[in-house]
Amino acid sequence: MLTSDSATADHPAQWHDIAACVDIPEGKMQGFVVAGRDVVVCHTKDSWHAVDNICSHAFVKMDEGRLRGFRLICPLHGASFDCRSGAVLGAPATKPLACWQVRIQGERIEVALPATP
Ligand code: FES
Repeated sequence: MLTSDSATADHPAQWHDIAACVDIPEGKMQGFVVAGRDVVVCHTKDSWHAVDNICSHAFVKMDEGRLRGFRLICPLHGASFDCRSGAVLGAPATKPLACWQVRIQGERIEVALPATP
C-alpha cells in the first residue's frame, strides 16, 4: 500500500477531523480541503479511504468523477485509481495519488496528514 509521502520523523502525521460518518454514505465520496491540501474521502463497502483530490495526470478534482467500488475514476480523461492505495488502475495517469490514513473516532472521520513544521 502506498502511504502518505511526507509524514516523517521530523514531521509526523497529524489527525484532522473531517466529517461525520453519516455525511458520506457507502458508495459516495466527498472532497475537503484539510490543512491546505485537497483530499477526497471515499466510503467503500468495507471502510473509508482518503487520497489526494487532484488527479495526478492534470489539474482536476477527483470528487467530480465517479466511485465504482474501490475504483476512483477521473472526470476529465477517465484514468482510474484504487482509492485504498492511490495506485493507478487505468490510463492515462501514470503516477499514483498520495494516500492518507483514515480512522473513525466515535461517529467522526479523521484523516492523518503531515504536520506542518
Ligand atoms: S486529468 Fe485525470 S486522467 Fe487526465
